[in-house]
Amino acid sequence: MIEPDFLRTTRTAYDSMAALYAESFANGLEDHPLDRAMLIAFADLVRANGGGPVADLGCGPGHVTGLLHSFGLDASGVDLSPEMIAIARAAHPELRFEVGSMTALDLADDSLGGVLARYSIIHTPPEQLPRVFAEFHRVLAPGGHLLLAFQAHDDPSELAESFDHKVALAYHWSPDRVADLLSKTGFTETARLRQTAPPEAERQFPQAHLLFSKV
Ligand SMILES: C[S@@+](CC[C@H](N)C(=O)[O-])C[C@H]1O[C@@H](n2cnc3c(N)ncnc32)[C@H](O)[C@@H]1O
Repeated sequence: MIEPDFLRTTRTAYDSMAALYAESFANGLEDHPLDRAMLIAFADLVRANGGGPVADLGCGPGHVTGLLHSFGLDASGVDLSPEMIAIARAAHPELRFEVGSMTALDLADDSLGGVLARYSIIHTPPEQLPRVFAEFHRVLAPGGHLLLAFQAHDDPSELAESFDHKVALAYHWSPDRVADLLSKTGFTETARLRQTAPPEAERQFPQAHLLFSKV
């Protein structure tokens, strides 16, 4: 099968700066209390539904996969970039990390208690997003939870706007439109957080965290 260009360019870009990325995000999100709060809520919800494996899709260097593990989850990671996966394996030898794409996951139907996609849908062209959400829905077991985080914008007339991300072409998304798409895929909304960008941030995009479940 011919690989779409966006996957090839995203992989090449992250491969070339994986070590730098890992250095920048070496701490356990101590300086991101709201991100941590959403991850803790996600972990609690997954456990309340009986646990089950949790996949961190687009896990990068695995720092958040490690955090989920520290919250008591059976967490593993998948990433497009072999360099990211090599770093994640070295940093967390006790956890499973595999190279793969969220557009076609090598995971069985109904096999997961939770899916995390933290800033990893941002390089997906908008027309490919329904395919990615269908994959999330396919691999989650009934009652499973999905936590999505992404750079947002406040214009619901546009699903996505592109921006000049440091690594590769990226999109920030309308939380309302993403939520609509998730509902059409069969997910039910549990909660959402809109975080204002701090004044010192390079880009003044709000950050969205959407928590959904598969009924
Ligand atoms: C901005 S980084 C986020 C990494 C990590 N989730 C975090 O919270 O820091 C985006 C990551 O998503 C991965 N990624 C992008 N598109 C992907 C896809 N289709 N399938 C799997 N991983 C993907 C990239 O390789 C990169 O490691």
